[in-house]
Amino acid sequence: NIKGFAFDLDGVIADTARFHGQAWHQTADEVGTVWTDELAENLKGISRMDSLELILNAGGYGQKYTTAQKETLATQKNDKYLELIKTLTPADILPGMKKFLDELKDQQYHLSVASASKNAPTILKQLKLTDYFDGIVDPATLHAGKPDPEIFVKAAEVMGLDPVNVAGLEDSSAGITSINSAGELSIGIGSQLNEAKIKFAVTDEVSLVAIKTQLIG
Ligand code: G6P
Ligand code: MG
Repeated sequence: NIKGFAFDLDGVIADTARFHGQAWHQTADEVGTVWTDELAENLKGISRMDSLELILNAGGYGQKYTTAQKETLATQKNDKYLELIKTLTPADILPGMKKFLDELKDQQYHLSVASASKNAPTILKQLKLTDYFDGIVDPATLHAGKPDPEIFVKAAEVMGLDPVNVAGLEDSSAGITSINSAGELSIGIGSQLNEAKIKFAVTDEVSLVAIKTQLIG
């Protein structure tokens, strides 16, 4: 019995996953790591510093940089990302998601945001969606990021719900693992999410009826 939905933000609500990719691609070029589709996919849902470590390790540069140099690289990436999202408006909400959020609101479901991004509050404001949510999990409070269950457990707490009554929406493999480990119903959006209990190819297909159909199916 689902009473609340915990939403990932980048690539689920906001068309921003491509901007994270674009900014990290630049970091990869700078340190000398070859940028591949697989690396791009593996970075989805992963926190800023963990993403940087993945990029450095992919090129074999895990030991090459000091902590201070890593901080600089991460700051440069974020500055680039902030530049890319500066002009974000409600038009950058992914297809069908505004309609889905309205449907959930109308039917009095609880809503929360479970994004690893420290930029999530800013983006929600730009998309004019802040008021839809009971709350946003602050990723700075987490002991471990996705795929650890902590962020989705906290997203349930924010809504005052038990994880068994929560569904989580994700476009990343790390995020689906997090939802499943939290004991919530996982809804995957994208093509490479085999572990998701419910699957959609694109955001446009997501609706309460479509979710119920797959659950019964
Ligand atoms: C989301 C994105 C990741 C990003 C992470 C941290 O999970 O999917 O690509 O690295 O947030 O974002 P931030 O805005 O804090 O650097
Ligand atoms: Mg995402």
